[in-house]
Amino acid sequence: MCSPRSLHFTWIIIVCYFLTWPHHCLASHKKTSCNVQDGRADCSHLSLSAIPPNLPGNISSLDMSHNRLVGIPPASLNPYPGLLHLDVSYNSVTKLDEHLCQTLPLLQTLNTQHNEVHLLKEEDLSHCTSLTWLNMASNRLKLHGEPFSALKNLKSLDVSMNKMVSAKLSSRPQLPKLVSLNLALNDFTTLKKDDFYFLENSALQVLDLSSVPLKTLEPGCLKPISGLRTLIMDGSNMGAQVLSKLCSELSETSIDALSLRKNNLVTLTNSTFAGLQKGNLTFLDLSHNSMGKILEGSFQWLTRLQTLILADNNIKHLTKATFQGLKSLTKLTLTKALAKGRTSATPIIDDFSFQPLSTLESLMLQQTAIREITAQTFTGLTSLKELDMSWCSCISLRDITNKTLLSLAGSPLRKLNLTATAMTNINPGSFSFLTNLTNLLLDLNYLQQTLTGKEFEGLGQIQEIHMTYNHWKIQLSSTSFINVPNLRVLTLGKSLNSNALNLDPSPFQPLSNLTYLDLSNNNIANIRQDMLEGLENLKVLKLQHNNLARLWKHANPGGPVMFLKGAAKLMTLWLDNNGLDEIPEEALKGLSNLRELSLSNNLLNSLKDSVFDDLKSLRVLRLQKNLITTVKPEVFSTPMSNLSLLVMDKNPFDCTCESILWFVTWLNNTNMTSVPDSATSICATLPLTYFNHSILMFDTLSCKDMTPFQALYILSSTAVLMLMVSALFVRFHGWRIQFYWNILVSRTLGFSDASVGEGREFQYDAYIIHAERDSRWVERVMVPLENEKCRFYLEDRDAVPGVSMIESIMENMRRSRKILFVVTESLLRDPWCRRFKAHHALHQVIEASRDSVVLVFLQNVHDYKLSRTLFLRRGMLRPCRILEWPEDKDRVLAFHQKLLIALGMTNRFKE
Ligand SMILES: *[C@@H]1O[C@H](CO)[C@@H](O)[C@H](O)[C@H]1NC(C)=O
Ligand SMILES: *[C@@H]1O[C@H](CO)[C@@H](O)[C@H](O)[C@H]1NC(C)=O
Ligand SMILES: *[C@@H]1O[C@H](CO)[C@@H](O)[C@H](O)[C@H]1NC(C)=O
Ligand SMILES: *[C@@H]1O[C@H](CO)[C@@H](O)[C@H](O)[C@H]1NC(C)=O
Ligand SMILES: *[C@@H]1O[C@H](CO)[C@@H](O)[C@H](O)[C@H]1NC(C)=O
Ligand SMILES: *[C@@H]1O[C@H](CO)[C@@H](O)[C@H](O)[C@H]1NC(C)=O
Ligand SMILES: *[C@@H]1O[C@H](CO)[C@@H](O)[C@H](O)[C@H]1NC(C)=O
Ligand SMILES: *[C@@H]1O[C@H](CO)[C@@H](O)[C@H](O)[C@H]1NC(C)=O
Repeated sequence: MCSPRSLHFTWIIIVCYFLTWPHHCLASHKKTSCNVQDGRADCSHLSLSAIPPNLPGNISSLDMSHNRLVGIPPASLNPYPGLLHLDVSYNSVTKLDEHLCQTLPLLQTLNTQHNEVHLLKEEDLSHCTSLTWLNMASNRLKLHGEPFSALKNLKSLDVSMNKMVSAKLSSRPQLPKLVSLNLALNDFTTLKKDDFYFLENSALQVLDLSSVPLKTLEPGCLKPISGLRTLIMDGSNMGAQVLSKLCSELSETSIDALSLRKNNLVTLTNSTFAGLQKGNLTFLDLSHNSMGKILEGSFQWLTRLQTLILADNNIKHLTKATFQGLKSLTKLTLTKALAKGRTSATPIIDDFSFQPLSTLESLMLQQTAIREITAQTFTGLTSLKELDMSWCSCISLRDITNKTLLSLAGSPLRKLNLTATAMTNINPGSFSFLTNLTNLLLDLNYLQQTLTGKEFEGLGQIQEIHMTYNHWKIQLSSTSFINVPNLRVLTLGKSLNSNALNLDPSPFQPLSNLTYLDLSNNNIANIRQDMLEGLENLKVLKLQHNNLARLWKHANPGGPVMFLKGAAKLMTLWLDNNGLDEIPEEALKGLSNLRELSLSNNLLNSLKDSVFDDLKSLRVLRLQKNLITTVKPEVFSTPMSNLSLLVMDKNPFDCTCESILWFVTWLNNTNMTSVPDSATSICATLPLTYFNHSILMFDTLSCKDMTPFQALYILSSTAVLMLMVSALFVRFHGWRIQFYWNILVSRTLGFSDASVGEGREFQYDAYIIHAERDSRWVERVMVPLENEKCRFYLEDRDAVPGVSMIESIMENMRRSRKILFVVTESLLRDPWCRRFKAHHALHQVIEASRDSVVLVFLQNVHDYKLSRTLFLRRGMLRPCRILEWPEDKDRVLAFHQKLLIALGMTNRFKE
């Protein structure tokens, strides 16, 4: 059955070659023209030197960035009068044309950053009254007159990086709607009293002066922008002196947030922020300042501060006066604020350092180095809800005891992050006083102990315990989680000893509220059937990267272990990388809520038909990197009926109609939101046509055509076979057909005179035809047999002289009941016998439908010769009509007997 398909595919190979060939050429596709979509034209990165004239006239947005424009001739924008947004950034434009905004009266945003605009005159923007957003960053601006005076609706202006030597963009009040002004990366060092006079009537709230090397601030310089709420002064490198001056100037504004990152503020003193005493500053960012010292009382003025960020500094010492006065602080970020240098000593946090922060809710101490945690370190944090000490280097946390964190006993702590603190042991009762704790993070440590349950004493409210990446050293016991009955989330990935779960009863038994259980990456090989018993709320179970193959094997002693029993509410199940090569029929039974099933990187090949039958809610199915060759509807139609994500690439799909047709058709018709990589799902086995091609290239039509093709094949091959058989049959038995056909014809057409002939008196019993040479035999054997009842016609003896020979033969044959051939080689050579007599005899046989011929063989003559010369064959006659002259004298009597029978039998042809 292979031949028709391969024949068929040869065609496809040819067709496919031509179909796919041009695609290869287009593979490294590059944008060569503008993309127009939803009224937006993207002409960026096209090396254009002019605005294309042939875009749709109704576009509202045009992106000409990263091209080679040297100007924006208004005429070139004539076709697009409806433009609202124009981006000509990253070009070489040297001038803004005054007619630009006349051509584009509706223009709202204009981006000209990274160009060469130099002189900006009053007329240039005089018609841009609709503009709300203007970016002129990174040009070489030189302002003439009042270029921005017409921008009555402008809300955001960016003139950063223009080497401007003054913040004074104008001398007359203007820009009434301006909210945000960016003057960053300019060269002025002084803020004069009237520099911001032009903003006196505006609503400026955000001012960016990043990397402006300010040295002098004239008193009252910020007075015109008293509505200022946010000032960004990152990387300005001003000294403490300038900063304190700035702060006193800011007191005349409504400043709310101040960013002072990267300012090299090595030391803070108790006067630095004194100017902000009257203000309402709530946010202060002092990160990346290499700050080594914060003198006592530095923050005492900032009583309204809520967020203080001190990340990435080099603070050596925190004392109980450091945070003095921060009465409203709720969030303190000290990430990498206390660092241990190679030579310097480990920073110290004094007892009661955090005591002033009674309102603090979140304390970030990530990646800090602390010499020790004492009994009073966190005392006074009476509002603390979250403490993050992840990646903290602190010896106290290595072997954590019931004293280590005791200073947190008065805090309503809910979240404690102790990720990566090099913890090796948790002693009984270490967290027992954190009665409100809900989240405990212990990932990435070196815990190596048997969890007896005492470690989590007192954590009655705990909902999440994360313990992943503990290097397979944790051993469980049946009581491990007896004190945390409220647990919802438990992660133990890459933490457990590979035998940790082989327990009876299961350690998870008390966790009836558990919804999320991660046991991945543990190399677990032994689980008991009742591991999940009682976890009636479990929704997510992660078991990837374990060694569960044996448990589901048919041949497992005691039968397959159905370890998913009891988790009927499961919604997500990950079983990737488990070496699974079998899924027992019952393994996934009852998981009717399962929405996500991941089985990638296993060895699954043929799946039992009903294995997924209960997965009626499945939305996500991952089966990539298995050994799946066929995707049959019997297995997959149920799980795939509601799917929104299917990942099934890297399987050795057998791209034949039986194996893949249903799948490809399903893929083509699916409404699924995504089938990532299914386009790269390639056919891995024959036929060659699809080898290494996406299965989506599989031509389903080829299968539909299969039926007629098959029928055609069967038909044509049958015809050929029949032809061959008939040819052979005709070749070897043609005479038989011809013979019976003739008899049939003569009988049906009424030539038969058999019935008549039977009654007719025959004159002779046999007409004997023999060769000249055999006359002696005839005289010796045949003639003696004659008597009254039996007469033979012998030509030599009975022919009437004078009658024509032919007539005589015909007449006498008709008068004879039988025609007897004495067959010898000489007879066959006799032309008369061969031609006429034999012919006539045959004619007689056929015409009369009688088996009237008797052959007597004196010699052994081949049937082939017989048929060639006498047109007779042994097979045409009944066996009793064929006689052989015996060599043996004793058998002559028997021959006579046979001969008489042959001559005397009824002539009716009975068959
Ligand atoms: C600032 O500190 C100095 C000594 O370092 C001290 O004399 C002065 O009283 C402090 N000022 C305030 C307002 O705390
Ligand atoms: C600070 O806020 C209070 C009330 O929230 C307000 O009365 C006061 O005017 C504000 N001070 C400044 C300088 O904005
Ligand atoms: C705990 O700390 C780690 C490391 O800093 C961090 O990735 C993780 O998000 C933190 N967890 C929580 C719940 O804050
Ligand atoms: C702390 O543990 C030790 C020994 O484990 C015990 O003697 C002591 O009473 C515990 N202290 C508290 C406050 O629980
Ligand atoms: C825990 O929270 C409750 C209210 O949620 C509060 O009454 C109790 O004082 C808190 N416990 C501690 C130790 O702060
Ligand atoms: C499970 O949670 C419910 C409500 O969330 C609570 O009433 C019940 O007590 C919890 N069960 C256990 C064993 O803590
Ligand atoms: C995919 O479906 C579309 C119509 O839904 C049909 O025109 C197309 O031939 C199908 N392609 C294949 C490969 O079945
Ligand atoms: C595909 O979506 C159409 C309309 O959004 C819906 O009629 C059809 O039933 C959906 N087919 C499947 C297989 O979900």
